[in-house]
Amino acid sequence: MNKPVYILAIESSCDDTSASVMCNTKVLSNVIANQDVHAKYGGVVPELASRAHQQNIVPVVQQALKEAKIGKEELSAIAFTNGPGLMGSLLVGTSFAKSLAMGLQIPLLAINHMQAHILAHFIEDSSSKKPSFPFICLTISGGHTQIVKVNDYFDMTVLGETIDDAVGEAFDKSAKILGLPYPGGPLIDKYAQLGNPKAYSFTKPKVGDLEFSFSGLKTGILYFIQKQERINPNFIQENLNDICASIQHTIVEILMDKLKNTVQQTGITQIAIAGGVSANSEIRKRLILAEKHFGWSTYIPKFEYTTDNAAMIGISGYFKYIKKSFSDLSVTAKARLKVTDK
Ligand code: KG4
Ligand code: ZN
Repeated sequence: MNKPVYILAIESSCDDTSASVMCNTKVLSNVIANQDVHAKYGGVVPELASRAHQQNIVPVVQQALKEAKIGKEELSAIAFTNGPGLMGSLLVGTSFAKSLAMGLQIPLLAINHMQAHILAHFIEDSSSKKPSFPFICLTISGGHTQIVKVNDYFDMTVLGETIDDAVGEAFDKSAKILGLPYPGGPLIDKYAQLGNPKAYSFTKPKVGDLEFSFSGLKTGILYFIQKQERINPNFIQENLNDICASIQHTIVEILMDKLKNTVQQTGITQIAIAGGVSANSEIRKRLILAEKHFGWSTYIPKFEYTTDNAAMIGISGYFKYIKKSFSDLSVTAKARLKVTDK
């Protein structure tokens, strides 16, 4: 039997500091420190995010090792997110990972955050089935909205993407219009559960078959709310659940339309979702139904591997480790890495 591979993974691309210890494809620990400091600003403040990463990184890594019951000297390699993301945030994780790998004299694995969201589907977990190559992954997060054809672990093609805002931004900006704190996506989801999704209708954008656009929808929602508030100043408070349900319904309809177009164009019926917005209960429900209605095989990540986490960096690190795809100490953080970059 091969010796088990123990990887310490670090994620610090945006506003969550996370560390995970993996044993091969299995998660031994996955510790996440969220940064509450951004809520009152209505979005992530990059300078505050990097300062918080500096404060959090040592305790988060120590906690991940402790929960995994693994000593530093037992680690086989260090994996870290080298992009895409906020430069100041990425630099904290990158410098920490490089120093630790150098100190322990073990290999370093640079991981692409967007590939990692997709590869989270391969984390070992008896409750979930794994997609086989090639499959389609709809990556939906705060910074990305892409339809990706996944040919292999590190071989991906973008079939379509947003021409303006990401879907997570559509949720967060709509929430801001409703006076909800950042990040508003999970709150829209929560209130939507109690509302009528057909209460209000919003116009869907007219773009290419595999393209997305959310900036017009956001403006449409803003004008609708302003108009209603002129008639009734308490419109939001009195109808919050219905407004959230209608916004969520429109966004999820757009996502489902694009997936149907993708299946039609590629003939691929294995459909996965990844990224923070894949935590949304409505898209999860609709994908489960799509198995029955359209005969697709759908893959929905476990809730804890949807939003940013280090376990997804760890699983990606494992696949790079077995390929011996190591980075040397000259590796740098890259704010603008694409999912297709190797
Ligand atoms: O992947 P992620 O954690 O960070 C990025 O890489 O961007 O995604 C964060 C995004 C935010 O826009 C957040 O509002 C959204 O995911 N999100 C949700 C839900 N949970 C997180 N959007 C809708 N419904 C949810 N339940
Ligand atoms: Zn992410």
